[in-house]
Order: sequence, then structure tokens, then C-alpha cells
Amino acid sequence: MPLLRNIGLLIQSLPECQSELRQLGDAALAWRDGVLVWVGSERELPGEFTSEVSYDASGHMVVPGLIDCHTHLAFGGWRADEFEQRLSGTSYLEIGMAGGGILRTVNQTRAASEEELFLRSMKFLNRMARLGITTVECKSGYGLDLVNELKLLKVYRRLSDEHPVRTVPTLLAAHVVPEDFRSKRSQYVDFICEELIPEVAANNLARFCDAYVEDSAFQLDEARKILICGDDHGMRPKLHADQLTCGRGAELAAELGAVSADHLENISPQGIEALAEAGVVAVALPLASLYLQQKPLCCRRLIDNGVEVAVSTDFNPGSAPSYHLPLAMMLGCIPGGMIPAEVLTSVTISAAKALALEEEIGSLEAGKSADFAVIDSPDPAHWMYHFRENACVQTFVRGEEVWNRDRDESCHET
Ligand code: NIG
Ligand code: FE
Repeated sequence: MPLLRNIGLLIQSLPECQSELRQLGDAALAWRDGVLVWVGSERELPGEFTSEVSYDASGHMVVPGLIDCHTHLAFGGWRADEFEQRLSGTSYLEIGMAGGGILRTVNQTRAASEEELFLRSMKFLNRMARLGITTVECKSGYGLDLVNELKLLKVYRRLSDEHPVRTVPTLLAAHVVPEDFRSKRSQYVDFICEELIPEVAANNLARFCDAYVEDSAFQLDEARKILICGDDHGMRPKLHADQLTCGRGAELAAELGAVSADHLENISPQGIEALAEAGVVAVALPLASLYLQQKPLCCRRLIDNGVEVAVSTDFNPGSAPSYHLPLAMMLGCIPGGMIPAEVLTSVTISAAKALALEEEIGSLEAGKSADFAVIDSPDPAHWMYHFRENACVQTFVRGEEVWNRDRDESCHET
């Protein structure tokens, strides 16, 4: 049975509240068939756990594998020119209205083959694994027709079969209304509900159904219809809510019992109350607010009002062209107002809840998947404070080593 020994500080992420991490000095872990069977102080390690394979954490900190619970992983092209335009004063919405933005990526994604998208996404996952990321939620939403939404979801299915990092697929056909439906938007909503959702459900291609509630995307009643239909087909709702304007998306997330409400830069006080009452996880996406030069979400305010907060990258070619989750964590501290313990909870057990996977991943305890990262920092505060390009030394998913800094190779390099 494999062991990890000589752990300087083990972060279990078993919080009573967001700021409490259960920590253990001089610890060890043991697992069998990818599942943790023992977690505790090394000096209490039972004799029967003598091991065939024993890894040495060299006194480093070990944390639960990081969970990126909101990404748009597969897409064609990039939009660096739009980044430059925004820096010169053109807004994200103006760029979108002039033919750029999400619809531009839709065209580039439709032009890319499933194989191209798959190989590119594999590379992204390899890089993410190096940062200690072991689970990645992946949205469709750059296809916006039957063939191309299915193409994206098939890419995610192949990734889950062929890459060790765990991927969790989400249908986001309600990202924006495609060009050819602009004058008949209700027909696009009907297409999603009557054709796409049943097809995706029949092939078990997505775990969640997401919708972008925004003036430039979907109205509340359109999103409600799509999300209820998704739920009826076994895909629990998630929402892009209150990102650019306050559209009462958080209230809709609460009304529908969504698994998460994401973005929320313009959430209303009533929205905060509704999320707290309904127990919906708020997903903060500080890279998106940074890149769009928006006032960042005050995570502190949400936590202080009883809302559990997860932090994620929102990796996509427009609003958040980086998969650097530790950077998003740092931004969750400054300017988001979280303390390091809270931000570590936010990318482990809270992010697991935002994917309804908290029984399987997100904390280090017997019975959970052996997903963990060895971090070259003495504790969470030092990790966030001395921010580096990468503090991760080693990453394990389901008990398998997928990245080792000393060998400087991903076990799944393409
Ligand atoms: O989460 N808000 C909508 N969708 C993405 C942006 C996608 C894009 O700009 O391509 C987001 O920020
Ligand atoms: Fe997003």
C-alpha cells in the first residue's frame, strides 16, 4: 500500500467554517486503489501499513488536490488583440457588440476539429497538474449548435478517459444567443430545451447545466426555463450571475437550488441573503474581474454574511486567459479579503461542494480520493505571501503521481 511520509504540515480541509483548516504536523498518508485509507501523525502510523512504495514529502506542506470548479477549458484561438483594445479603453461589451468577444471564439471553436481541441486541452491539463490542480470543471458554450456543443462535450469525455486529472463537464449552451438566432432568440431557447439537453442527457455528456444571466446574454426567465429543463434531465443548475450588471442571477440560483452561483461582482444585498439561506456556493472568479478591470468581488462580505465561497480561474480566451489557480487564490486574498486559510478551503472542500463532489474529493480523510499536492511552503499564509510562479513540487490524482518537479515532467505530457 503506497504511503506519503515526512509531511511537515498536512492540511486536511475539514472545516467547521471557511476559516478553519484542520492541520497536522509531522503527518503521513496511506492509500489503496486510489483511495485514502489512513491519515494521521507519522508516529502513529500503524505497523501494518508497511509499504511497497513510499514517497517522501521532504518536510513540505501537503494540501488536498486543488479544484478548479469553473473553466471554459476547450476553445479555439485566443483574443490577445481584445486584451489590448480593452487596455486602450474599449469595453468588453463594446468589443462583443463589434463582432468580437464570445461569438468570435465560437467561430474559432467551430472551425477547430475535435482532435485539435482535445490535444490543446490535454496540454492545458498538464500545465494545471503542475500547479497542484487535480480536478477541473469544463464548460461547453463555444459551440452553440448541436454539432459543436456535442463536439466540446466529447472532448471533455475523452479527456476524462485519457488524462489523469479529473474533469467535470458542464453544458453551457446558454452562453450567448448565436448570430443566426439573434432575431428569434426564443427559438434558440427551445432548441436547447427540446433538442440539445435531451441529447446531452441521453449520452450522459454533462453533469451540470449552466446559463449566463446578463443583459448581453440571457434574461432571467430564459435561464430559468433552460436550467429547469436541465435539472429535469439530471443536470443540476449552475449560473453565471451578476457579472457585469446586477441581473438578480444570484436570487435565481437560490430559487432553483443551484449547486453554485458564479462571478457575482454586482450581486445585490438580497442576492447575498438568498445564497446564504439556500446554501448555494458562491464561486469567485478574481482573474475575470482583474482582466476586465472591474471592481472585484468582496469575498469577505459574502463569508461574513454566511455564504460559502469557492475560488476558481474561469479560464477562457476572453475574460480570464490564465489557468493559474494559485494566482486566483492570491487575488482572493488581495483584493478579495479572504485570509489564506479561507482561500485554501475555497479551492478544496468548498470547490468540491460547488461540483457536488464533496463526498469524493476536497479534503484529506479516509475514504476520499487520494488527490493531493506537495507544496514547497511551510504553511498556507507563507504560500500566499511569498507568491511564486509555482510552489508545487508533486501532484497525485487517485494515488498516482502526475507531476514531479524534480523530474520536471508530467506523467501525461503529449
Ligand atoms: O465566464 N461571462 C461569460 N463567459 C465567460 C467569458 C467568456 C469569454 O469572454 O469568452 C466568463 O467570464
Ligand atoms: Fe465563466
